[in-house]
Order: sequence, then structure tokens, then C-alpha cells
Amino acid sequence: MGMGRAAALLFAQEGAKVVGCDLNREKADETVRMVREAGGEMISTAPVDLSNYAQTAAWIDAAAQHYGGIDVLFNNASSPRVGPFVDLTLDDWHYTMRNELDLVFYASKAVWQHLIDRGGGVIINTSSISAVRGAAFFQQAAHGAAKGGVMSFTNHLAAAGGPHKIRANAILPGLTRTPSTEFLFATPDSPGSKMAAAHPLGRPGYAEDIAKLALFLASDDAWYINAAAIPIDGGQATIE
Ligand SMILES: NC(=O)c1ccc[n+]([C@@H]2O[C@H](COP(=O)([O-])OP(=O)(O)OC[C@H]3O[C@@H](n4cnc5c(N)ncnc54)[C@H](O)[C@@H]3O)[C@@H](O)[C@H]2O)c1
Repeated sequence: MGMGRAAALLFAQEGAKVVGCDLNREKADETVRMVREAGGEMISTAPVDLSNYAQTAAWIDAAAQHYGGIDVLFNNASSPRVGPFVDLTLDDWHYTMRNELDLVFYASKAVWQHLIDRGGGVIINTSSISAVRGAAFFQQAAHGAAKGGVMSFTNHLAAAGGPHKIRANAILPGLTRTPSTEFLFATPDSPGSKMAAAHPLGRPGYAEDIAKLALFLASDDAWYINAAAIPIDGGQATIE
């Protein structure tokens, strides 16, 4: 949906052949339609549950076979459970780890040999500002821990990838307006609306802001950027 769709549109606009996936077939098809209507090239598979290694590997292998290789993996999908720590169950914790951290490992593992076969490539992992600070709007211990794991995992991927010319970087978005955060902007008194009003740049992030950073990191112009964890929140977390 949000950033993944924005990235598919932008990457395709820049000439990438995009292979997407989602749990939700309707949303996946909608993204493919939007990309194609804009003149881009994209295929997608749904449902694919990225928290299942076999499904992830099958999707990635099929992508490599379809296009003859893979150059870039954008690990962006996630599904957290957030809320007061006192109410966080063991199931919530493990669900969040599976759907925010395990899936990054699974896709990276499955794509690794394909990137080596191409002589190098790029992995971009979406972490979060919540990896480096406590609750902003609501308590989110499992989400923050999973995103901290994504950030740290990225450094180790970069270390393993160097000899193969595989770069790995993490993006740390702040609150970004996407379908999953829309409820935070429902009224002027909603936490997202209040944050936007007090934001140093006067607005929250949009999915397109994040997609532009992912696009740059995927490009050869970013060749010397490796093992970086890049906050993208308009300065909000630092300044406010
Ligand atoms: N929106 C924000 O404010 C914000 C802030 C910081 C970090 N992030 C991170 O940015 C990324 C994108 O966020 P978004 O707001 O665009 O999310 P979104 O909810 O709009 O989209 C996430 C997509 O991932 C898919 N997905 C979830 N679990 C999946 C699974 N197991 N297998 C396959 N697909 C799955 C969903 O179906 C959905 O299409 C996420 O990693 C999120 O944690 C978002």
C-alpha cells in the first residue's frame, strides 16, 4: 500500500522492472494497474506472506527467473501490533517480530545468491524512527524492538555483502501519512494532525518522500553509501 506503492511507481518511472507482492491481492493488482497506466513495467504476486520463508523464496526465485536476475531488494512491508506495554501479549510480541523483523531476514536470505550472481546489488530496509526513540503517539515496544533489529541487521548485511559488492542501508521514517496511519489524522485534534501542526517543516512525511530516498539509495549515485541508517522525518525527532 503506502510506501511500497509509492516506490513501485517511482522506481518504474525511472525504468526499473518492478516485482511486487502483498498479502492483499486487490491492493497488489491496483498497484500494478497504477504503474502500468503510468507507462511503467511491473508484475506482482498475491497473496504472498513474507513472514513465511517458503513463500518468500518462491516469490523471489520467480522474480529472478522472470527478469533474468535481481539488482535491488526493497524490504518495506511490515505489520506491527502496538499499544500500551501492559496490554502487550506474548502473541503480539511474536507476531510483530515475525511481520517486521523475520520477513526482512527471510527476503534478504532468499535474494542473497541472486545478488551475488549479478555481481552485486542493493538491499534497502525500512526501519523506523521508533528504532531509536521511545513512544511518540502510542506505546510500541515490540515495533521499536523489531525496527531496531532491522537497523542492526542492516549493518551485518553490509558487512557480509561488501566482498560481493552488495550494499545494505536502512531508512528510518518518522510519522508518514499512509493508509495505515490515516487514522492518526482523522480530526484536527488527532495526534498526527497535532504533530503536523507543530512539525518544524509544517507537514508530516508522505509515502513519496520515503520512495525518493529509497530510489536514491538504489541508484549507482549512492554507491558509496553503505551500512547507513538514515532518518527521514523532516527533522521532527531531533528538533521537537
Ligand atoms: N507510516 C509510517 O508512519 C511509518 C513510520 C515509520 C516506519 N514505517 C515503516 O514503513 C514501512 C511501510 O509503511 P506504510 O505506512 O507504507 O505501511 P502500509 O501499511 O501502508 O503498507 C504495508 C504493506 O505491507 C503489506 N504486508 C504486511 N505484512 C505483510 C506480510 N507478512 N507479507 C506480505 N505483505 C505484508 C501490507 O499488506 C501492506 O500492503 C513499514 O515497514 C513501516 O513499519 C512507517
